[in-house]
Amino acid sequence: MVFAAVHNTSAGSAANTPADLPTAIRTLSRERNAVILAHYYQEDAIQDIADFIGDSLELSRKAASTDADVIVFCGVHFMAETAKILNPGKIVLLPDLNAGCSLADACPADAFAAFREQHPDHFVVSYINCSAAVKAQSDLICTSSNAVELVKKLPLDRPILFAPDQNLGRWVQAQSGRELSLWPGSCMVHESFSEQALLQLKLDHPDAEVLAHPECLPHLLDLADFIGSTSKLLLRAEDSDAQSLIVLTEPGILHQMQQRVPHKLLLPVPGADGCSCNACPYMRLNTLEKLWHCLLTMEPQITMDEQLRQRALTPIQRMLEMSA
Ligand code: 13P
Ligand code: SF4
Repeated sequence: MVFAAVHNTSAGSAANTPADLPTAIRTLSRERNAVILAHYYQEDAIQDIADFIGDSLELSRKAASTDADVIVFCGVHFMAETAKILNPGKIVLLPDLNAGCSLADACPADAFAAFREQHPDHFVVSYINCSAAVKAQSDLICTSSNAVELVKKLPLDRPILFAPDQNLGRWVQAQSGRELSLWPGSCMVHESFSEQALLQLKLDHPDAEVLAHPECLPHLLDLADFIGSTSKLLLRAEDSDAQSLIVLTEPGILHQMQQRVPHKLLLPVPGADGCSCNACPYMRLNTLEKLWHCLLTMEPQITMDEQLRQRALTPIQRMLEMSA
């Protein structure tokens, strides 16, 4: 599936929308025996109503273990698709089907197949931010939380191909000591942060610790004190002695971070030229109203060809077995 344009898909008619959306969502969710999973980049109101919030690895684990009949995935398409791969018998809903990912879009399955053919002896590790069709061509899936740990476990006698995020790949390469052949993809959001603004924040707050997601550009990662997945950044915010934290990732994470460290000063890094492009336009397509509407209509659902699902499942299961 291609998500070329990011546009707000209307769902539900304003006239029918309940005045108290959170109560209506909770009632419908109970009636449907649904579980609402949300990523840290979702808008605050969605995070507040979710049954579980997590990073990509935690959300995959939750999707694999839930006994709910319906999974409502408040995140982006590859996350909901992973939940469906793990749960073919369950209904998986994504409030807005256009919630894609620039990184997943940067790795079309046919071009990836050609790239693999150029590296026939390579073990293929794909970041979970990719389509099911790319997962199906991979030996192992990883997330930003477990990528270093998993790559370190791979046999030394086989070269490794890593896709689709070259920034994460370079960081994994440095951390693991393994050389990786990189697919040249990247995240439009994590490439948008302003280096000038980061340097100014460091000057203004010399005691602040810089927390960064590994999808950021290498020259910004060089300025970071701690690099990790969204969950690891949240844990670090709690553990760090620093009273000011400069945050180099999507600002949706600030909602949970501020709740965990209410006494600390959080300083998000803006996009270059002050644009708001550091907010993921795909993640932000999901709204409380669309969440309510998808529970009401049980649409849009994630569907998938069964053969493709089975091929994509193997490397995901390998990841879940291999990561601590
Ligand atoms: P995490 O797995 O760290 O939550 O990252 C997901 C993502 O899409 C980052 O852009
Ligand atoms: Fe994809 Fe980047 Fe949005 Fe994460 S922040 S979902 S990698 S576009």
